[in-house]
Amino acid sequence: MKKLKVRVPATTANLGAGFDTFGLALTLYNEFEVEEYDGVVIETYPKNPFLEKPENNLFVQVLKYACEKRGKTFHGAKVKQTTNIPVARGLGSSATAIVAGILVSSAVSKTELTDERFFEIAYRFEPHPDNLLPAWKGGFITALVDEGRTYYQKLEFPTEIKAVVVVPDFELSTEKARSVLPESIPLKDGIFNLQRASLFIAALTSRNFELLKVAMDDRFHQPYRKKLIPGFDDVVASAIESGAAGASLSGAGPTVLALATENFDGIGRAMVEAFNKNGISARYHVLEVDRSGAQLQILE
Ligand code: HSE
Repeated sequence: MKKLKVRVPATTANLGAGFDTFGLALTLYNEFEVEEYDGVVIETYPKNPFLEKPENNLFVQVLKYACEKRGKTFHGAKVKQTTNIPVARGLGSSATAIVAGILVSSAVSKTELTDERFFEIAYRFEPHPDNLLPAWKGGFITALVDEGRTYYQKLEFPTEIKAVVVVPDFELSTEKARSVLPESIPLKDGIFNLQRASLFIAALTSRNFELLKVAMDDRFHQPYRKKLIPGFDDVVASAIESGAAGASLSGAGPTVLALATENFDGIGRAMVEAFNKNGISARYHVLEVDRSGAQLQILE
């Protein structure tokens, strides 16, 4: 095989109370086309000179590391990278590069990709299974890491729910968004989130979507992170007023996620307007849940 293409979905992590636990894959994709080559050549769509430098390109870094980890010398690659997922917005853009790099290296070396191999490489670049797993496997996933081992389960996600994601026009790195979190939280906040994360799963399995509004509230991260996101409370309130079942920060932010069964464009427009009133421009996407995860295609 000489030429491969991988398509990896965006992800929205946390979904409110499920901080560092829940993740959902969405139908917005980054694509990586790779050809055997001596040396590294990167083309980006849309054009991004920063990402065309191999040392800045996470996909190339992961591919190189994964090949070397398998005892192979990395001679280079010709890469065409199409980025549709906004960067540093809480939609798992980095996870797509990590998953794609691992999948390509595994296909090229014809090695079976076990969970152990996947995480051994992936965690070197990003420690969040709530992004990595849905990007790889698709769907809705609950995950945890215990003594170095990752335990997870993919759960059915109701087909009638769509995700309205509203992406403000500024970046927020996960590092910065984690730096504002406290070291410890009071027991009452632990109980608050435990109850809501459990209710979230119950709302999905029973299809009682009215529960999502309260179930997507959170005291672990949103109260701290919202200080970095002008208008966050107004955006969430506007989603609910326009008929969303529930709303939360998407991953580490600054994107805001609404889950809804109707009035998708109305919800998106209202959320954009709420950001605008707080001096922030934003755009919205109405997305479905991606259920198949990363897809690798052999082109030649
Ligand atoms: N659960 C992680 C966080 C996701 O919220 O920081 C990071 O992408």
